[in-house]
Amino acid sequence: MESKIIIKGGKPLIGEVTVSGGKNSAVAIIPAALMSDDVCYIENIPLIEDVFVLKKMMEHLGADVTIEGNTMRVDPKGVSNWIVPDDLAREMRASYYLMGTLLAKFGKAQVVFPGGCNIGSRPMDQHLKGLGSLGAKIDLIGGVYVCSAEKLKGCEIYMDVSSVGATINLMLAAAKAEGVTTIVNAAREPHIVDLANFLSAMGATVKGAGTPTIRVKGAQKLKGCRYSILPDQIETGTWMAAAAATRGDIKINGCIPYHMESASVKLAEMGIEVIEGEDYIRVKALNRPKAVHIQTLPYPGFPTDLQQPFTVILSTAKGTSMVIETIFESRFRHVDELRRMGANIQISGDVAVIMGVEKLSGAEVVASDLRAGAALIVAGVMAEGTTVISNTKYIDRGYENIVDKLKSVGADVSRT
Ligand code: EPZ
Repeated sequence: MESKIIIKGGKPLIGEVTVSGGKNSAVAIIPAALMSDDVCYIENIPLIEDVFVLKKMMEHLGADVTIEGNTMRVDPKGVSNWIVPDDLAREMRASYYLMGTLLAKFGKAQVVFPGGCNIGSRPMDQHLKGLGSLGAKIDLIGGVYVCSAEKLKGCEIYMDVSSVGATINLMLAAAKAEGVTTIVNAAREPHIVDLANFLSAMGATVKGAGTPTIRVKGAQKLKGCRYSILPDQIETGTWMAAAAATRGDIKINGCIPYHMESASVKLAEMGIEVIEGEDYIRVKALNRPKAVHIQTLPYPGFPTDLQQPFTVILSTAKGTSMVIETIFESRFRHVDELRRMGANIQISGDVAVIMGVEKLSGAEVVASDLRAGAALIVAGVMAEGTTVISNTKYIDRGYENIVDKLKSVGADVSRT
């Protein structure tokens, strides 16, 4: 029986919460550990569904993977298989990182066309173009990518789109390619830099991560290492949204304020106080936010993953806001559910016009994807009355211990 999250909302969230390790870092760094010849210890792992699915995939390939607390131990010495099980690969988008990893390790990989959040068409042309340039032959046979490469040879790859996934996949393949690979028009998200640091810790040479041009010098052998992944940028932003939406005061510990610039600036524009410390952000929202305009862009622009939670804040802001979603073509599916709670939002293409109402009222709502689920949690704590969220499996893919964390800032929340 699918569990539901039940929230009695309408009061400010006040208190402190600590952010877990980054989901989108973890799902890139964990597969990378398969390329090492020795044991890797990855610390600050978020205990979320995507990590557990990835663990099962890696064990299927022959790796010995254990998790103790928030540290994952990966021993890749037993890895001898390059065929990723379809049922697991369909559960998450990031399973495609095993293409780059297994091509680098074996010169072979078989991965079914990946699943993941239904927020629009998720093409892979940039992945295929880049891996092809490195020397891989990739055929789509019965919905499965069958990849092979005599040898991966470094080259210059120009990305038509600054794709996070393609940048990561190419960095993985390049880590053991012969010579230098230059990725031009690369994505610059914090998790790209995190992966670069991990690959460097294993002995590859990676320069320029975080800029539009990344250079990877492949290494014949990659060694084991111990590495702690960065805090989750999107979880941090979700808590910022929860504080703003409930007119609360939340201190978010263990985050990197620099990564949150675009979100902090938007909250300040709304008239909300954002206090930044060395490794924390405190959001004090003592009055009704003002309407603002948001356009999602690749990092360091406003993250598309925060568009859904921030739309909730704007649904009860003073005035009319506009949100332009430039990254994915159907990332407004949470809006239908917000309308059920009383939101007044018009959608036209990639633009949402949000007329702020006084308040939302609790209702039965359904999460359609991971960040839509997060948005419904923000709506639930903000709305008067009771909200019941189903399809919570999406939320568990990306938020560790979400119910306990909500309780720690005073939310009246439970799970069936
Ligand atoms: C990653 O998805 C994240 N997922 C997404 O987070 C995030 O929304 C997205 O990056 C943007 O930041 C993971 O890291 C596992 P993209 P990804 O490739 O890699 C187009 C979450 O909630 N594109 O940067 O799939 C694509 O259509 C998830 O944590 C191509 O055209 O995103 C989109 O318009 C949801 N060709 C744009 O690029 C390609 O080959 C950005 O996609 C690849 C992508």
